[in-house]
Amino acid sequence: MNTIEIEDRLGITFCNRQAIAIERGEGSYVWDENGDRYLDFTSGWGVTCLGHSHPKITEAIYKQAQKIIQNPNSGFTYSPSRAKLLTILKDLLPAQLEKVYFASSGAEANDAAIKLARKITGKVKIVSTLGSFHGRTFNTLSVSVGRENTEQFLPALLENEFVAFGDVAAMRSAVDDKTAAVIIEPIQGEGGVRIPLASYLSCVAQICRQRGALLIVDEIQTGFGRTGTFFALEQSEPAVAPDILTMGKGIAGGFPLAAFAVTERINARIQKGDHGGTYCGNPLGCAVATAVVSELIQQNLPHRARQFGKTLLGRLAQLKQIHPGKIIDVRGKGLLCALELASDELVQCVTRNCLKQGLLITPTRNSVVRLIPSLLLSESELEEALRILDKSIAAAVGN
Ligand SMILES: Cc1ncc(COP(=O)(O)O)c(C=O)c1O
Repeated sequence: MNTIEIEDRLGITFCNRQAIAIERGEGSYVWDENGDRYLDFTSGWGVTCLGHSHPKITEAIYKQAQKIIQNPNSGFTYSPSRAKLLTILKDLLPAQLEKVYFASSGAEANDAAIKLARKITGKVKIVSTLGSFHGRTFNTLSVSVGRENTEQFLPALLENEFVAFGDVAAMRSAVDDKTAAVIIEPIQGEGGVRIPLASYLSCVAQICRQRGALLIVDEIQTGFGRTGTFFALEQSEPAVAPDILTMGKGIAGGFPLAAFAVTERINARIQKGDHGGTYCGNPLGCAVATAVVSELIQQNLPHRARQFGKTLLGRLAQLKQIHPGKIIDVRGKGLLCALELASDELVQCVTRNCLKQGLLITPTRNSVVRLIPSLLLSESELEEALRILDKSIAAAVGN
């Protein structure tokens, strides 16, 4: 049996899979077991911000693995590797977010944020936005997408309410005295790269403040330079000061690490035993994240994402003019870009056509294709992707 047959036979499949077995990667490219090359415009779902097999990441893994991978007694003991990452994050995070704890996945970080918000406020209700995605644990599933997301697992865990993303009035009427927190993405990623007005997040923050609810900003997909600034909330006007900020994906460029940062006020209410986890701030993960974040800073990659994002968006707008019936909208911030096509069927067809021509893209909800390349993308790689997209859309049938 080959890799695909073994995985299909022995693994559990929760999603539609693409029939390629990826063996290795370098920069923006990956190769399958047959030696065929693909240009990766998915970054492993927004994770590999420095591309594949980046030497700084490989070096960090090698050097730290030679020292220690997992601390004795895990979080009971201190780690120079963790201390280094905490120090570097301190300068990047909004000033009021003074304390950080680590997790292994974004869902886990959001789950902890929701849990702590309920304890600290003594309230139960969580407000989130329709079309959002915060993870697949029971807490995070219950505040993701909309009610249909939990139907098959009823009863849902939380007393929660969904409001339309971008709708300030709806948020104002949903957040009440019983609300522990609002959890929100600055830009909805899985929901189809939906970008609200620059003032939206600060309006939500003000509503939270007025009602005594906490604001949890989920930067798991938008953080670490992806949208042209270190965190997408930096582009909010006026500035936003969340109570909790969650991070993941790009933070360690592919190593499974996530984190949440809280204010001193929240930290003061945290007690021993409130949270924990075997891998939370594992020295290997922290060493990789330190290498990734240092590289993002040294190479000024958020700025690069902004510049390349502008070019990509401009070129996608031209594609829209060439294929008016098929492309409904193009949008993006930095290198988190999207093409909204005329139907889900068209999305599937374009994705298949791209795959055949060696380009990997990410279909998401609402007939959207996400383009999330490495922040180190080159101009020629960008041109190559656009050529393949153009041909793939032209060849796609239906609208
Ligand atoms: C905004 C956002 N939050 C949370 C998550 C969940 O992260 P993970 O898959 O690491 O649990 C995702 C994953 O796509 C995400 O995009």
